[in-house]
Amino acid sequence: MSTLTKLALGVMGQLRPRPAKGDARATIKLPAPDKRGGLPLMQALARRRSSREFQAKPLPLPVLSSLLWAAFGVNRRGGGRTAPSAINAQEIDVYVALPGGAYLYDAKAHTLRLVASSDLRRITGYQDFVDDAPLDLVYVADHARMRMVPVRQRESYASAAAGGIAQNVYLYAASAGLATVIRAWIDRSAIANALGLTHDQQVLLSQTVGYPKA
Ligand SMILES: Cc1cc2nc3c(=O)[nH]c(=O)nc-3n(C[C@H](O)[C@H](O)[C@H](O)COP(=O)(O)O)c2cc1C
Repeated sequence: MSTLTKLALGVMGQLRPRPAKGDARATIKLPAPDKRGGLPLMQALARRRSSREFQAKPLPLPVLSSLLWAAFGVNRRGGGRTAPSAINAQEIDVYVALPGGAYLYDAKAHTLRLVASSDLRRITGYQDFVDDAPLDLVYVADHARMRMVPVRQRESYASAAAGGIAQNVYLYAASAGLATVIRAWIDRSAIANALGLTHDQQVLLSQTVGYPKA
C-alpha cells in the first residue's frame, strides 16, 4: 500500500491490519540465541546504517531468536537485560509483527506470545516497505512500570530506553548482514488499537528488519 493511501486511511482512522498468512501459533518458543557469533563490535559499528529496501524473505527462527535477545533479552542472573532502563524499570515491551500474527516478546521465557492473529506489518508505519519486509518491531512503553519515575520524565526516559534497544538491533543487523531502520513516522493509534494496548501503554517507535535487497 502506498504512503499516500496509508496517510489518507490514517486520517480517517481506517488503517487496518491484513489477514494473517497461515495459522498463527499461540506461543513460539525461541531457540537459544547464538551469543558467540557476530562481527567484532568496532566492525559492526562501522557497518551500522539505516536501510529502507528489504527482501520479503522470512527471517529464520534462529536469526529472530538472536535478534530479539540482542534487542532486549535477559543477559545475566537476576533478570538484567541487554539494554538499560532508568531504575531498571524495564518498561519497554517489544512487539513483533510477523506475516502470521503479532506477538509480544517475553524475554524471561525467550518466547513469543500471540497478541493479534492478523498481519499488522502494514499498520506499523506510513512508509510502503513496512508492509512486505518480514519483520516490524514496535517499542511500547508501559507507564505502569514507571511509578518510581517522576511523571514528567517518563516519556523521555522510556524513549531513551527504546533508543538503546533500537541500537542493539542496528548492531545485530550490521553483524548478521541484515537491513534495518528505526521509525517514528507511524500511526500510534492504529498500532495501539490493533495490539489491544491499555491506556498505560504508549507506542514509541517501530523498527523494520529484513534481508537487504541485492
Ligand atoms: C527518533 C528517530 C526517528 C526516525 N524515524 C524515521 C522514520 O520514520 N522513517 C525513516 O525512514 N527513518 C527514520 N529514522 C532514521 C533516520 O532517518 C536515520 O537514522 C538518519 O537519516 C541517519 O541515517 P543512518 O541511520 O543511516 O546513519 C529515524 C531515526 C530516529 C533516531
